[in-house]
Amino acid sequence: MNILLLGSGGREHALAWKLAQSKQCDQLFIAPGNAGTSQYGTNVNVSITDFGAIKQLVLDKGISLLVVGPEEPLVKGVTDFFKKDEQLQQVTVIGPSQYGAQLEGSKAFAKKFMIRHGIPTAAYREFDETNYEEGIPYLQQHALPIVLKADGLAAGKGVLICQSHIEAVAEYELMLQHSKFGDASKKVVIEEFLNGIELSVFVLTNGKEYVILPEAKDYKRIGMGDTGLNTGGMGAVSPVPFADATFMKKVEERVIQPTVRGLEKENIDYTGFIFFGLIKVGDEPYVIEYNCRMGDPETEVVMPRLKTDLVELFMAAGNGTLGNIKIEQDKRYACTVMAVSGGYPGNYEKGFVIEGLNKPLPADSLVFHAGTAEKDGNVVTSGGRVLAVTSYGNTVSSAVVKSKEVLNQLSFDGMYYRQDIGFEFE
Ligand code: AMP
Ligand code: GLY
Repeated sequence: MNILLLGSGGREHALAWKLAQSKQCDQLFIAPGNAGTSQYGTNVNVSITDFGAIKQLVLDKGISLLVVGPEEPLVKGVTDFFKKDEQLQQVTVIGPSQYGAQLEGSKAFAKKFMIRHGIPTAAYREFDETNYEEGIPYLQQHALPIVLKADGLAAGKGVLICQSHIEAVAEYELMLQHSKFGDASKKVVIEEFLNGIELSVFVLTNGKEYVILPEAKDYKRIGMGDTGLNTGGMGAVSPVPFADATFMKKVEERVIQPTVRGLEKENIDYTGFIFFGLIKVGDEPYVIEYNCRMGDPETEVVMPRLKTDLVELFMAAGNGTLGNIKIEQDKRYACTVMAVSGGYPGNYEKGFVIEGLNKPLPADSLVFHAGTAEKDGNVVTSGGRVLAVTSYGNTVSSAVVKSKEVLNQLSFDGMYYRQDIGFEFE
């Protein structure tokens, strides 16, 4: 079958790599893709939110499976667009309806869903212009630190952890009265701070059945030892050493099952990934957030560990046979280290030539492109996060060492990567 994948990051390169391995994949198209995805299919210069152009592409290329990488088209309703259009109804879409995508697109929606279904999460209240005044005394008596979240999508920047009441009230005012995050902060969730260790758990579901994919832990801060500014993700490891069978059983029973049953009970049209951003407090899992897509850079370790055919999984999700499938995982660790542009996550320049991509790779390493583009026969940088190098190993540190060896062979002006991915597992 012919497949269209939407997106252009490291996640999409890893998905393209995996999709292209399936016997069921005839032609793969990626819109818009990057310099890496073109190794596995044809990049097409169509925007991920131009639904009319996506439709034309699907009809022209005889696409029967659409895989949506990022959240934006889902939150804007690409799945509903396909379901409503007679010419597109036969296409299997991996990605939830606009209503279901609110699990990621609205923090307040997600919190209410969790409360309705008894899913463990931090205590919270929501505020908007109608109860703005009430929020101030609420903040002033709240235990520190206080977590403030813009309700809507804010490019990963909408969560603030405030260490003082003065700071919390000031940020609250900026969000609600001065549109700090635009429309995304018209509503604000104020939440109890949970102290624990984070991990990401992924399922593929059709809103009734689900399969659990390998879990992962990502490293969000720019600096060594998890310090400095937040980024899109500087590296990831899978499996997660502290997510043992007992803990994962709790995750399945207390988080995954009530979430999927909640989707079913509420008749929410949801075929796609659920990314559970979890925190382990003591031995208990709590949900920090839901995302309606795979994580990046987590996908760059999850796909390499998934042995099951991905197209088969997607078709089973689409035709209601996901319950018959048993996921097979590579037992080894997969660790990815992300090379980023100098200055990221602040301002950075683009367009630097990446050297070393033609050198042979060790058998147990993979290079996934994130922000790259082709220009005059060269591969150049075109984003903050540029390359994700994944390696397999029998320990976290042996996998990370291999990825760093590959990164030593690669270079571009200003290239930076964290030396200490997986540091707490040595
Ligand atoms: P989010 O955008 O929801 O992923 O939040 C960004 C980051 O903020 C999370 O990955 C956590 O590190 C942190 N965070 C969010 N909510 C909480 C919370 N209730 N307690 C502690 N940390 C949190
Ligand atoms: N790595 C976190 C995310 O994709 O949101």
